[in-house]
Amino acid sequence: MGNCWSSPKQAETAASPSPAVEPKPVPPVTEEPVVEAQKKPAAMAVKIYIVFYSTYGHIYKLAQEQKKGVDSVEGCEGILYQVPELLSDEILAKMHAPPKPDVPVLDVHDLPNADGFIFGFPTRYGTMAAQFKAFWDATGGLWQKGALVGKPATMFTSTASQGGGQETTIFTSLPNIVHHGMVYVPPGYGLGAPMYGLDEVRGGSGWGAGTFAAGDGSRQPSKLELDFAEYQGKYFAQVAKKLAA
Ligand SMILES: Cc1cc2nc3c(=O)[nH]c(=O)nc-3n(C[C@H](O)[C@H](O)[C@H](O)COP(=O)(O)O)c2cc1C
Repeated sequence: MGNCWSSPKQAETAASPSPAVEPKPVPPVTEEPVVEAQKKPAAMAVKIYIVFYSTYGHIYKLAQEQKKGVDSVEGCEGILYQVPELLSDEILAKMHAPPKPDVPVLDVHDLPNADGFIFGFPTRYGTMAAQFKAFWDATGGLWQKGALVGKPATMFTSTASQGGGQETTIFTSLPNIVHHGMVYVPPGYGLGAPMYGLDEVRGGSGWGAGTFAAGDGSRQPSKLELDFAEYQGKYFAQVAKKLAA
């Protein structure tokens, strides 16, 4: 029996209606030493894909800081990708969304070429935006092959308000990381004192960087929130570099 929620064929054509698909056997997960296959020559850069979705640009700003942090680690390179939009231009205009940033749209087949992933997405009712869930839903073929097993991953988010669901958004996204057999690397409290201060409003937690956008999107990420995103990118790259060595 094929597995019931995806096949490589469906993953390749995730956005199109699914034709009749022949059931495919699920390969045994222990067949090939996938993690071993990821070892790379010392001279090659450790590639960290920063994969994000952003309607109003807050997540994009944090993604740029994550890249700064990744690029600051010798031998590491952060590469920005956005996931496909699901909403029509008409709906986006009604939501007053700005144009998308000039960042390539990710092809899921390219994911195995990365050494690690920083995933960023805004909250929708305390969990990830549907655009990002659709991205995960297109990775079934990779899951079948165990193509992402052993690769490290971390996450960051954005909410309109305090208590709007930053921790729940990341926490409820963990199953995607787990089912792919990835290694979850939270930033924790390594940034130190700024993480404990109560004298300024700030997003982010031990689960990942974050910002508060305000109900109308008018608040922009503060310096502390940007610093935390940069810290997360740097810390994550250091861990990914060790795992790729
Ligand atoms: C349908 C919908 C649901 C949302 N749910 C929440 C929510 O539960 N809590 C919250 O604080 N913000 C919520 N927001 C606000 C978004 O999280 C906010 O616009 C986003 O974090 C801004 O990030 P971006 O600029 O990268 O799109 C919601 C927005 C939409 C459109």
